[in-house]
Amino acid sequence: MKAIISDIHGNLEALRAVLDDIDGLGVKEIICLGDVIGYGPDPKECLDIIQSVTNLNILGNHEEAVLYGIPPNFTPRAKKALEWTRKIVLEDETESPELRESRRKFMMSFKVQTRIEGVTYVHGSPRGPTREYVLPRDAQDKKKMKAIFDCLEDFCFCGHTHTPGIFNYEGFTHPSDMFDLYMLGSDEKVLINVGSVGQPRDGDPRACFVTFDGDTVVWRRVEYNIEPVVEKIYAVPELDNFLADRLREGR
Ligand SMILES: [Fe+2]
Repeated sequence: MKAIISDIHGNLEALRAVLDDIDGLGVKEIICLGDVIGYGPDPKECLDIIQSVTNLNILGNHEEAVLYGIPPNFTPRAKKALEWTRKIVLEDETESPELRESRRKFMMSFKVQTRIEGVTYVHGSPRGPTREYVLPRDAQDKKKMKAIFDCLEDFCFCGHTHTPGIFNYEGFTHPSDMFDLYMLGSDEKVLINVGSVGQPRDGDPRACFVTFDGDTVVWRRVEYNIEPVVEKIYAVPELDNFLADRLREGR
């Protein structure tokens, strides 16, 4: 069985809680769909842990921005957080050049998109691998969804929006409306969002990820102690307080 995690966003407490949960599940492989860093106060620590536990890493828009430059669609708040993250991860002179270089190389090894055993893994969408948002409201946009499904062979796991659920030809379904599980093969084509470990935005502040045994996807929610993360974000002037406050509400 695989665990598929995404959007950790420098939230060490959430990542540790999820890895503790994974420990008891008999998981053989961990896949991360990107955005290990950005927004949160512990990007280096999260990168180092991810490097030691994952079998496959997909490139998120935050790694892409740190490595190759910040794209114009980042909000001023996200841009400021990203500039701070880049300094911490790649330019911290209290650490050795070798360590900084190894973190850069690790992020550069992240795949933009990949397909394993008939399943595609991507951060955003099969049409825009690192950057396209497919939000629940997009399910009503038939033209957008058709274009995305045209790029999709059949089954695809993604992250990026921090909103767990599935998109099929009928629309969007949140895990809470399908008993937190989905059977592959129920639809011809489906885009499966695994949710976010470190910054959920579906109104549930618990960390989110999925397990996948080749047939069934199960969404799991894990409680963790949010307050230390909030305090750490408040202590960094470059990280907007909103990035802390939103964790409490999962928005
Ligand atoms: Fe993200």
